[in-house]
Amino acid sequence: MKQVAILISGGGSNMIRLLESMEQPGHPARPCLVLSNDPAAGGLVRAAARGVAVATVDHRPFGRDRAAFEAEMQHVLEAHGAEILCLAGFMRILTPGFVARWQGRMINIHPSLLPKYRGLHTHARVLEAGDGEHGCTVHEVTPELDDGPILGQGRVPVEPGDTPESLAARVLEMEHRLYPAVLRRYAAGEREPVTFP
Ligand code: GAR
Repeated sequence: MKQVAILISGGGSNMIRLLESMEQPGHPARPCLVLSNDPAAGGLVRAAARGVAVATVDHRPFGRDRAAFEAEMQHVLEAHGAEILCLAGFMRILTPGFVARWQGRMINIHPSLLPKYRGLHTHARVLEAGDGEHGCTVHEVTPELDDGPILGQGRVPVEPGDTPESLAARVLEMEHRLYPAVLRRYAAGEREPVTFP
């Protein structure tokens, strides 16, 4: 049984879907920790209500010292026995040192069809470009931002009259299908990409 830590910065809707999925019979992983860099992240309360261990390592007291912030995170992750890290709306850039330490054991969900639209504001950028489709990607984390081997992608159409908000909501629904499916396979050692629909 792989021990999974989920890293969040916000509401944690993906995190909740991952927690729910790990309750399924025969799942090869279980949650050991939900960790946030923001003590106000709504997802912390939601995880604790489900009986999952939660912790915060606030990045702000560390200022620009990312390595010190990450050393504290590493300490907490080790204390909880984490073996796989799932980034789920975790909005801090990680240093190459931290990434190297977890490489092959850390995955992320990004709201675009990578390699298109790395970084922020993906939904608005898709609309500006006039793309006919959009989606989300789960990938292994490597030192380059929003890069690394793709483990799964979910596609959604862009509809006439879409706003960044309506598009984000459609993509988020797809994220909620994709991420649990990928985690289940990943925890079982499966690296072949899955695609939705
Ligand atoms: C999700 O859309 C996720 O793909 C995105 O943040 C949102 C978090 O929502 N992640 C990134 O943009 C990472 N760069 P959630 O807290 O409800 O899961």
